[in-house]
This record gives sequence, C-alpha cells and structure tokens, in this order.
Amino acid sequence: MRARKRAGISGLSISLRSLLAFFLFFAFCSGGLVIAQEIEDCMECHGDPEKVGRVARVDRETGEVKVVNMLVEQDAFMQSAHGRSKEGFVCIDCHQDLDGVYGEHKPLLNTVDCITFCHDDPAAEFLESTHVEHMKEKEKTPPRCTDCHMGKNSARETPVAEDAFHRSNVNKTCGQCHEDYLFTYCTNMHGQLSTLGVLTDEVPNCYDCHGGHDILKSDNPDSNVGENHKVETCGKCHTGAGKNFVKHIAHPAFKTRKFYAEAYKTFTEKGILGVLADPQSYLALVFVLYMGIIAQAFSMFGGHALLMWIRTLLDERKGGGGHDH
Ligand code: HEC
Ligand code: HEC
Ligand code: HEC
Ligand code: HEC
Ligand code: HEC
Ligand code: HEC
Repeated sequence: MRARKRAGISGLSISLRSLLAFFLFFAFCSGGLVIAQEIEDCMECHGDPEKVGRVARVDRETGEVKVVNMLVEQDAFMQSAHGRSKEGFVCIDCHQDLDGVYGEHKPLLNTVDCITFCHDDPAAEFLESTHVEHMKEKEKTPPRCTDCHMGKNSARETPVAEDAFHRSNVNKTCGQCHEDYLFTYCTNMHGQLSTLGVLTDEVPNCYDCHGGHDILKSDNPDSNVGENHKVETCGKCHTGAGKNFVKHIAHPAFKTRKFYAEAYKTFTEKGILGVLADPQSYLALVFVLYMGIIAQAFSMFGGHALLMWIRTLLDERKGGGGHDH
C-alpha cells in the first residue's frame, strides 16, 4: 500500500498537529494556506441525528436507488481498516472535495476514489488480472472495490481482512457469478461451517484458497489450488497435509443436477470411458447408491407409518360414537 501525501502530518497526535497548524498559519499567513479539518468538524453534523438522517441516493454507476444513512457512527469508523490505522485518517482524506470546506456543503459529492492516490498497486493487480478479462469476455460487470470491501453499514467502514462480515460478503460477491461453486462449497465441511456462522479465518472462504485479486484457473501452474501449490494452500490450516490429503474434492459437483446432465452429454459423445475420466464420477456412483439406500429406508419406514396412521383413524372412527373431527 502506498502512503498518502499528507499521511505524515495526520499521523502525529492531535495536539501536535494543531500546534503545527498554528505555526504554519503564522508562517504562511499571507499565502491563504488551507488547514485540514479534523473528524470533529464533520461529526458536528454527521454525528447529530437532528442535523442529518436517511436520504435517497441514485448510484451513479448502476442507476440503483438506495436509502443511505448520513449519520456516521464514529466508533464503527474507528474500528475499520482506516480508522484503526496508525496513519490517522480523517474524513477529508477520502472525501477530498471537502478539503477546506467548513460547515455546510453541497449535497452531492464525488464518489470516493480508492485507487489513484492510495491503492493503485492492488487495483492494478485486480483490474489487470485474467479473471477480470474473463468477466469482460462473458459480459459480466466486474465487481467494484467497494463491493468486496464493503463495511456492515457503509463503504466508509472498510473492514479489516479478518472481519466476519467481510468474509461472508466476499463469498457472496463471488457467488453472484459462481452460483454452482458457491453451492458445492456449501455442501462441503468448509462451507457448512461458514454457513453455520463460523466466519473466523480458521475456516476457509473462497479467497483463502483462490486468492482475492489475482485469481487463476486451477490448471495454471501458478494457481494456489493447482497441483504445484495445493499442498501449501491446504497446509496453511491442515498441518501435515500431503499429496493424498489434497485429493479431497473442494467442490463436489456430483451433488448438483448439472453434473448429471453434463455426464449424460459426455456419455452420448464419448461413451462410458469419457464419463469415467472424471474422478467425480466414482463419487457420484457412491453418492447415488448411498442416496438410494436412504430413500429406500425412508420409503419403507414412511409406508409403514402411513399404514399405522390410517389404522388409528379407522379405530378412532369405530369407537368415536359420531363425534365430528
Ligand atoms: C453543517 C452540517 C454538515 C457538516 C459540517 C458536514 N456535513 Fe456532510 N452532509 C450534511 C448533510 C445535511 C448531508 C446530506 C445532504 C442531503 O440532504 O442530501 C451531508 C452529506 C454528506 C455526504 C454524502 C454526499 C453524497 O454525495 O451523497 C458526505 C460524504 C459528507 N456529507 C461528508 C462530510 C464530511 C467529510 C464533512 C467534514 C469535512 C462533512 N460532511 C461536514 C451536513 C454536513
Ligand atoms: C477510507 C476512506 C473514507 C474515510 C476516511 C471516510 N469515508 Fe465517508 N465514505 C467513503 C466511501 C467509499 C463512501 C461510499 C460512497 C462513495 O463511494 O463515495 C463514503 C460515504 C460517506 C457518507 C454517505 C453515506 C454512506 O454511508 O454512503 C457520509 C455521510 C460519509 N461518508 C461521511 C464520512 C465522515 C463524517 C467521515 C469521517 C469520520 C468519513 N466519511 C470518512 C470513504 C471514506
Ligand atoms: C472480488 C473481490 C475483490 C475486489 C473487487 C477487490 N478486492 Fe481488494 N481484496 C480482496 C480480498 C479477498 C483481499 C484480501 C483480504 C483483505 O485484506 O480484505 C483484498 C485485499 C485488499 C487490500 C489489502 C491488501 C493489499 O493487497 O494491499 C487492499 C488495499 C485492496 N484489497 C484494495 C482493493 C481495491 C483498491 C480494489 C478496487 C480496484 C479492490 N481491492 C477490489 C477482494 C477484492
Ligand atoms: C462479475 C462476475 C464474477 C465475480 C464477482 C467473480 N467471478 Fe470468478 N469468474 C467469472 C468469469 C466470467 C470467469 C471465467 C470462467 C467462467 O465463465 O466461469 C471466472 C473465472 C473464475 C475462476 C477460474 C479462473 C479463470 O481464469 O477461468 C475462478 C477460480 C474464479 N472465477 C473464482 C472466483 C472467486 C473466488 C471470486 C470472488 C473472490 C470470483 N470468482 C468472483 C466471473 C466472476
Ligand atoms: C478449500 C479450498 C477451496 C475453497 C474454500 C473454495 N475453492 Fe474453488 N476450487 C478449489 C479447488 C482445489 C479447485 C480445483 C478443482 C475443482 O474444480 O474442484 C477449485 C475450483 C474452482 C472453480 C473452477 C475454476 C478452476 O480454477 O478450476 C471456481 C470457479 C471456484 N473454485 C470458485 C470458488 C468459489 C466461488 C468459492 C467460494 C464460494 C470457492 N471456490 C471456494 C478450492 C477451493
Ligand atoms: C483457512 C483454513 C483452511 C484451509 C485453507 C483449508 N481447510 Fe480444510 N478444513 C478446515 C477446517 C477448520 C475444517 C473443519 C474442522 C477439521 O476437520 O479440522 C476443515 C475440514 C476439512 C476436511 C474434512 C474433515 C477431515 O479432516 O476429514 C477436509 C477433507 C479438508 N478440510 C480438506 C481441505 C483441502 C483439500 C484443502 C485445500 C484445497 C483445505 N482443506 C483447506 C480449515 C481449512
């Protein structure tokens, strides 16, 4: 991450900063130097429910109409990635069009630019990735920085990496385009745990295995989940994971209907050997047999229960003496 120009100044303690400002004010008195506002200058209104509230806003990129809360929770901001940073970010670091504007301001401000001055490197890593290239080829709009880095209440509260909301939000964002993979992830131990709400970084979500910005296909030699790096990726949590352990299937597609439709297509085109070339076919066979046994057991049990129930009804009728039921 690249440091901002004024980060050096804002890193100092508040009293030191005002002292500096005081000094600069006298030094450049005639030059019209603008002194940066503190958080309090903004909280005067944005912390007061009598002065600000919910307003409707049209998203300039998507055209979507949203109700946005102008009331700012300073505590939540202080817990966010920027709020807790040693660089001591203040509001106008991001809302730069209010630099030097005190008190009332125009209602519509520019969208915050996360890239140009602060995060150009991570942005390039994402925007120039083959993953984004593939999205464009498929005419899908790539997610924005704030889609994956959204805070619970506002994009202002950029979450830290281990934040539970952030972790589930990234899964959700990936799942918007990869429904099948999200589904199969959720049928597995990892996804079951995260769906149950275990959202610590001990249970992997999409990016613990695939990475966040530069995602490569598993057959790429550099992919985190490819043959070369799988042991390392799984080994982050499963100490002692070896070549055999990583054969475990992260996305058991055999639990989806699409898998059987595709297997049928392969069968008609390439015959049974084509189908058996996919290791998931064997699992599918076991899975189908297993489900068959369960279904059989339930139908026997269910049929028996149904007969018992009819029997009880008949008995009741006989002995009920004309009561309405
Ligand atoms: C005098 C009160 C007041 C002060 C001081 C103030 N604001 Fe606001 N701000 C408002 C109000 C009211 C709105 C909502 C405008 C509307 O009704 O649409 C607003 C809206 C905003 C918005 C939303 C803009 C948009 O495009 O949707 C941002 C961001 C914002 N303020 C940031 C700040 C920052 C940063 C500061 C400190 C430098 C600050 N405000 C100081 C009253 C204030
Ligand atoms: C790290 C950058 C950053 C900082 C620091 C920051 N904001 Fe924002 N703020 C954003 C982003 C991003 C949005 C979402 C709208 C956008 O993209 O322009 C936003 C939105 C807002 C809104 C509109 C309501 C909403 O939730 O969308 C208000 C009001 C606001 N900020 C006030 C403040 C105040 C007051 C401070 C200082 C306590 C502050 N911001 C600090 C990035 C920041
Ligand atoms: C598809 C989801 C996604 C999108 C879109 C995305 N990121 Fe990230 N980003 C992640 C994940 C996952 C991480 C790693 C966990 C974390 O630090 O939150 C990350 C980490 C980061 C980090 C901290 C680590 C680093 O590399 O310096 C920064 C800064 C960052 N992203 C900025 C951006 C910016 C700027 C954009 C927009 C160009 C963006 N991200 C778009 C998912 C995304
Ligand atoms: C806006 C849609 C979109 C989002 C959001 C998205 N992807 Fe993708 N992803 C695609 C497209 C399109 C492809 C190309 C292959 C395809 O058509 O499925 C792709 C490919 C991939 C691949 C294979 C690599 C390749 O280059 O073919 C992986 C792995 C992947 N995505 C994982 C993720 C993960 C993890 C996330 C969340 C951090 C995510 N995707 C978010 C659309 C998206
Ligand atoms: C435990 C690690 C792990 C997690 C968590 C995980 N994946 Fe995967 N993913 C893999 C592996 C390994 C492969 C390659 C083999 C396969 O297809 O099963 C893969 C394959 C994929 C592919 C096919 C493209 C390719 O690279 O072969 C997509 C798309 C994908 N995953 C998306 C996701 C999404 C979306 C999530 C989160 C909902 C997710 N994955 C969670 C390990 C993981
Ligand atoms: C972020 C940590 C993390 C990563 C990365 C991770 N796992 Fe897991 N995995 C877990 C946790 C936590 C559990 C559930 C508790 C347990 O069994 O240890 C689990 C459970 C499992 C299980 C079922 C339980 C068992 O021990 O039989 C298998 C199999 C498994 N993981 C395989 C993998 C494979 C293969 C990879 C790499 C593609 C991987 N995991 C990556 C954390 C992780």
